[in-house]
Amino acid sequence: MVTSSAPGKVYLFGEHAVVYGEPAVPCAIERRARVTVEERAEGVRVHAGDLTLDGFTVEYDDAAAGHPDVDVPDSLVEAGVGYVNEAISQARDAADDGTAGFDVTVDSEIPLGAGIGSSAAVVVAAIDAATRELGVELSREELADRAYRVEYTVQDGQASRADTFCSTMGGAVRVEGEDCRTLPAPDLPFVIGYDGGAGDTGALVAGVRDLKETYGFAADTVAAIGDIVRRGEAALADGDVAELGRLMDFNHGLLEALGVSSRSLDAMVWAARDAGAPGAKLTGAGGGGCVVALDETTETATALEYTPGCQQAFRAELDTDGVRVEGR
Ligand code: MEV
Repeated sequence: MVTSSAPGKVYLFGEHAVVYGEPAVPCAIERRARVTVEERAEGVRVHAGDLTLDGFTVEYDDAAAGHPDVDVPDSLVEAGVGYVNEAISQARDAADDGTAGFDVTVDSEIPLGAGIGSSAAVVVAAIDAATRELGVELSREELADRAYRVEYTVQDGQASRADTFCSTMGGAVRVEGEDCRTLPAPDLPFVIGYDGGAGDTGALVAGVRDLKETYGFAADTVAAIGDIVRRGEAALADGDVAELGRLMDFNHGLLEALGVSSRSLDAMVWAARDAGAPGAKLTGAGGGGCVVALDETTETATALEYTPGCQQAFRAELDTDGVRVEGR
């Protein structure tokens, strides 16, 4: 039996545009998904105790993925099961053992579909634990690559390497197409607001693609996000929180224009700004879920707690570890 964990992340800049080859800078945060894998005779059994859902257990094998009877949106459960299933396929492939069966237990502090990297963290931790259980130790580069292939498959070819690379490596990273690297970064004062909801990443990415293909100005908006990221990298290197905040505000405006914000995300962004946060934006695919703000003081977290539509506000530290083994 092996337990591995991997961190969630926030996007300082660049989600959605990264899917079209623009750079993005996600940062890993100290909220983890833990996945325990134990080999069994055949088939795959998944227990998911806490995904900020009611908790569900699903038993299935590869031939006929069972349809779970749970009181949560089908699309989220299907996506969750799909990610674990594909992660297991990658582990089998890496270990050259096409029929290995597994008991998989997922225990995550990262809300599902909320834009702070639950699927990438679960996939990275699952591949790591399952390959180790089969006696294979992957390099971090290979692990990140296999995790990306899982997201690519589950999200119908609409995924970047950003989430999975960040969750594998930890810290701040920069991803532009195939080029993935870690960045030196100060520990930024992240405050996260969560509306209790979730977005459908595949549908949101498809919506941006449609806009981009229909309107030249939508394509320009995607390119402008890339410009923000390039400016943001310099601000990050200088630890210039005021400039990072201005750029985050601008990035949120462009994501809003691309149709991926929501009333509750906008309300939380404005609450953070009104509380004096240097900057705030939605993080991840959008449609619901989380915003990330920068604020050294306690003002933003307090304001978010009193914002209608905000279910939880918390401070998050940069996680420099990335994936790690928790136990055997
Ligand atoms: C989702 O967390 C981030 C997106 O940019 C999709 C991706 O990069 O795969 C929306």
